[in-house]
Amino acid sequence: MIMKKINSVAKIKIILGVVLLFGLITSCNSDKSTPGFTYFDDMYRSPALKAYQPSHLNPRKSSALIPVEGTVSRGYVPYDIPNSNEGYESSKSDIAVPIYFSDLDAQSGKELYGQFCSHCHGDKGDGNGILMQREKILGIPGYGKDRLPDITPGSIYHVIMHGKNNMGSHSSQLNYDERWKIIKYVLKLREDQSAIVADASSAT
Ligand code: HEC
Repeated sequence: MIMKKINSVAKIKIILGVVLLFGLITSCNSDKSTPGFTYFDDMYRSPALKAYQPSHLNPRKSSALIPVEGTVSRGYVPYDIPNSNEGYESSKSDIAVPIYFSDLDAQSGKELYGQFCSHCHGDKGDGNGILMQREKILGIPGYGKDRLPDITPGSIYHVIMHGKNNMGSHSSQLNYDERWKIIKYVLKLREDQSAIVADASSAT
């Protein structure tokens, strides 16, 4: 009876020992970046390719594919007017303005303007954004007709695409529709600014 009891205790010890040993062996893993033994392995190791990771699927041996020749990405609208003085002047004739521009709601570009332009041009379009106040960038114009007498929707688009002097190009941050929304809002600010200037000059 006593022998039997010892035996079953020993048995439990042996079983525990084996389980522990198994645990120890399977937990040893030289690759510290993985959790060792895993259930549902594909949940841990994504089968998706990472950008620029080497890949045998692509003849260029990289996971990043280049666009098929002769194609453009969805929503891309080419802009051919060159980044030159002549290009800037010809952009004023508004050839690039889309038909839907006149129906755009002026407020639809307000948020985008706040994200991309107001830190320089100011919330009100008076050219007094935070970077101007802190003198990080100088020569930022307000949009009023006194400062910029002959800008047009087309020339604003040109400046967004190519930048101008201290203003960099914003073509990669904004898609086609977003650019026109911002332009509509800039024209609204332009009206407000011009009215303020007209008021001030009639008061004096
Ligand atoms: C880093 C500061 C900065 C940001 C951001 C910026 N601008 Fe400008 N912007 C300038 C400066 C500086 C000029 C004056 C360029 C010059 O004529 O020398 C300018 C000029 C302009 C002009 C007048 C160009 C002309 O025809 O003379 C327009 C219109 C304009 N910006 C629109 C925008 C819009 C729209 C955005 C947002 C998408 C924007 N800017 C963002 C600095 C900025």
